[in-house]
Amino acid sequence: MHIHAYEKIWLAASVLLILFLLGSVTYGAVGPGVAMVSDTEQTIDPGALDETDRFSEPRVEQVGENEYEAYVVARQYGFQPTPIVVPANSTVTFYVTSADVTHGFEVAGTNLNTMVIPGEVSEITVETDGPAEYGIVCNEYCGAGHHVMQGNLEVVS
Ligand code: CUA
Repeated sequence: MHIHAYEKIWLAASVLLILFLLGSVTYGAVGPGVAMVSDTEQTIDPGALDETDRFSEPRVEQVGENEYEAYVVARQYGFQPTPIVVPANSTVTFYVTSADVTHGFEVAGTNLNTMVIPGEVSEITVETDGPAEYGIVCNEYCGAGHHVMQGNLEVVS
């Protein structure tokens, strides 16, 4: 079969287009999934959080001289504890899980932001600076009360 140069260009262009489309589909499916693995932990039973050490009582615990861990539960439609109180100028690792459906945990005005997936524990470590109050919003649609789902983070001296 003889193919003109002009047709070869279009053939090459179509192949590239197909590869590009395949690439974007793969990226969309795998990209965020891979990203989530890095900040999630072992699986947990969302219906039995009360029976776990960390989430039966959502709280902030001191684990080092200047280090704290915050165990946070998201559920329709709020976050516990309320408010989340952490010391200024410290290192805080947040462990966030959901008691029901997928939520978001976004501390407004900061880069502290993660998806909260039932069965998984999202882990994020941050350094706090001066005292401040932040709003926490849910940025994943989670039901009728999604738009009123919010919390508070207080960084205190
Ligand atoms: Cu929880 Cu939207």
